[in-house]
Amino acid sequence: MELREAIGRRRSIRFVRPYKAVEPEKIQMMFEAARIASHWGNVQSLRGIAVFKNTASPEIIEALQAPVAGWQIRKAPVVIVWYCDPTAVDEQSDRLHELVDVGALGFGGKKERVRALDEVLLPIFDGIKDFLKEPGLNEIDCGQGIAQATLMAYELGLGTCCLGGPEGDRILKGIGVPDHCRLLLLQTVGYPAEHWEAGGQRPRQPFEKLFSMNHYDEPFPRSEAVVEELTRDKFFTQPAPLPEREEELEFLQRALDVDPPGLI
Ligand SMILES: Cc1cc2nc3c(=O)[nH]c(=O)nc-3n(C[C@H](O)[C@H](O)[C@H](O)COP(=O)(O)O)c2cc1C
Repeated sequence: MELREAIGRRRSIRFVRPYKAVEPEKIQMMFEAARIASHWGNVQSLRGIAVFKNTASPEIIEALQAPVAGWQIRKAPVVIVWYCDPTAVDEQSDRLHELVDVGALGFGGKKERVRALDEVLLPIFDGIKDFLKEPGLNEIDCGQGIAQATLMAYELGLGTCCLGGPEGDRILKGIGVPDHCRLLLLQTVGYPAEHWEAGGQRPRQPFEKLFSMNHYDEPFPRSEAVVEELTRDKFFTQPAPLPEREEELEFLQRALDVDPPGLI
């Protein structure tokens, strides 16, 4: 599948088949995709724990329960706990040296590159190390990894939904993650119970409102030719709601025995 088609057709899939286990190999592929995502200084602060409902202990499964989106967590055969380990920043010197060694960072001969790193770049980074561990840059980079894993899941025929929530510390503690780490989100994973369109492309704000060219006041000009090309390439799909969506939701609620109906 072309990348642009995969990007356009991916949806948050909230209804998955609880009875169909997800192969660990497929979760591995998601983790492989996350692992090769870009990260500032190649620091790699993203961590993930995949909890498999068919093999994890009842205590671990119980630890995942949250007041928000609880039914999704209960139904999904796998829940990935994505978190950030800011102590990865302590190894930034090693990671940057690796980049310089392989010729990914800097220019000129290797000796000059190493000298520039040791004498110029690392003292700057060392001076702001505490700042670099704070929530911000690391979380953005972790998000890139999660996005790559999400696209891999889609390509493998899996449905996923990211779930945010306020109980990060409790959840991490329950599955043994050290205190200094920060929960990013839970991601449910399973084989979709709903049609891949999941009711159609979810609403988005107008393109021009989100993106600019050269100046805040100048909306980025949206070319119709580009929109047409992406439509031909199956990037754009039918907008939500598709006519049968309400019936599909009713069907899914009954099939998955989600009670009472609603959001959480
Ligand atoms: C970081 C993050 C947290 C989210 N948290 C929730 C959540 O708690 N519950 C939920 O049902 N969906 C959650 N979502 C899914 C979004 O609401 C979803 O992106 C939105 O419905 C648009 O749909 P789409 O992903 O299908 O394009 C979350 C998505 C992200 C990226």
